[in-house]
Amino acid sequence: MVRAIGGIAAIVFIALFGIVLVQTFNARDLVVPTNGVIGGGAADPVSDNAADYQTLANRLQLQRWRSDAGPAPEAEEASGAVQVNFRADQAPGERVASWLARSEEHSEFLQPRRKIEGHTWVAANPVVDVLTQPQGRDWRAFRNSWPVYGGGLFIFGVCAVLGLFLAWRGRVTIREGESGESVPRFGLVERANHWMTATAFILLALTGLIILYGRSLLRPLLGPQTFGDLASGAAWLHTALLVPFTLGIVIMFVAWIRHNLPSRLDWEWLKRGGGMGRDVSLNPPARKFNAGQKIVFWGVIIGGSVLVATGLTMMFPFLWAGYDGMELGQSIHVVAAILMIGLILGHIYIGTLGMEGAFPAIWSGRVDRNWAKEHHSLWYEDLLQRGRIYSRPAVED
Ligand code: HEM
Repeated sequence: MVRAIGGIAAIVFIALFGIVLVQTFNARDLVVPTNGVIGGGAADPVSDNAADYQTLANRLQLQRWRSDAGPAPEAEEASGAVQVNFRADQAPGERVASWLARSEEHSEFLQPRRKIEGHTWVAANPVVDVLTQPQGRDWRAFRNSWPVYGGGLFIFGVCAVLGLFLAWRGRVTIREGESGESVPRFGLVERANHWMTATAFILLALTGLIILYGRSLLRPLLGPQTFGDLASGAAWLHTALLVPFTLGIVIMFVAWIRHNLPSRLDWEWLKRGGGMGRDVSLNPPARKFNAGQKIVFWGVIIGGSVLVATGLTMMFPFLWAGYDGMELGQSIHVVAAILMIGLILGHIYIGTLGMEGAFPAIWSGRVDRNWAKEHHSLWYEDLLQRGRIYSRPAVED
């Protein structure tokens, strides 16, 4: 049954991956001017007419050529522009010679561009000193292409791989079956903190995805008014959740760092694929956290810190970063967020569907004795030795 769910999920996610892949080839790398983003605004009047679209495309093309701000394509050539006219029957060599003969006339091409420089007197607002910001176009082109399509491919790709894995492997069960006896694994503070961080992260991911994809995916479905309300609510929540998320990763770091320092056991665990394959005899020994969990832990700590730092950079514009810094911060933020969503999807999978007996650890705080023995044998031994638990009396026939 569980394997069938995996198979169906894999088919659905492979189809979604395919759809995004096709869209990637059709991607129009243009930012069409829009309005009415905030609730109540008019719908964006984007024309379907091919000729209009071409005009718009040509005009935006000019914007992409850095430092070129030309006239609109249909406009007359500006007076004073340097004209270089060659005769059609001139060979390339002759063209060069004729151009060089008139090089005085064209020397303007060879000079650095003229700039107008001066001072502005807008007190305490250095931002308005910037009149044009050409690198913003590079950032915008990146913002609207790689993270959007790459993010879709990555997230659906991870889901498809998890579905395929479940279909192939089935659930990792407790080999000896449940013992009916539990041992303590996580205390109340650890669990409460886990769920505070998890709730914050899941809502951050959902609201972040609305910010990234909402305009193209949700707005046509919901209409500008409803989408406007949803988007502003999402943006507000996305910022406010910074507080529990940051607090959560700080507490996680303090509470779990000592169990997550790398050790030689980790390499062995990774070489045996964590005993996740079908050959259960490969189940490697582990202390409280195995190498897979250490990857999740460090992914959360490092990824979370990067997200918080870049998020604050955007939250407080120009406080410590200028335009360039904020653009770079945004790009890093979105890439880190997508990678972390992939990691957490894997984590949620293994904590629920993927492995029998794991979820109670972080819910009730106790795990079945046999689960502990199978997945964290050295930690289990340690609990026995320290007298935290007692060995089970042998069952008499
Ligand atoms: C519905 C969502 C989630 C579920 C079902 C879940 C489940 C679990 C479980 C069962 C454990 C304990 C594993 C064990 O006993 O060894 C755990 C640990 C942990 N969780 Fe979650 N979790 C979820 C979301 C999250 C999120 C969103 C984060 C971070 C942003 C997170 C971070 C961690 C970390 C760092 C650990 C310790 C390392 C590990 O066991 O992998 N969890 N989680």
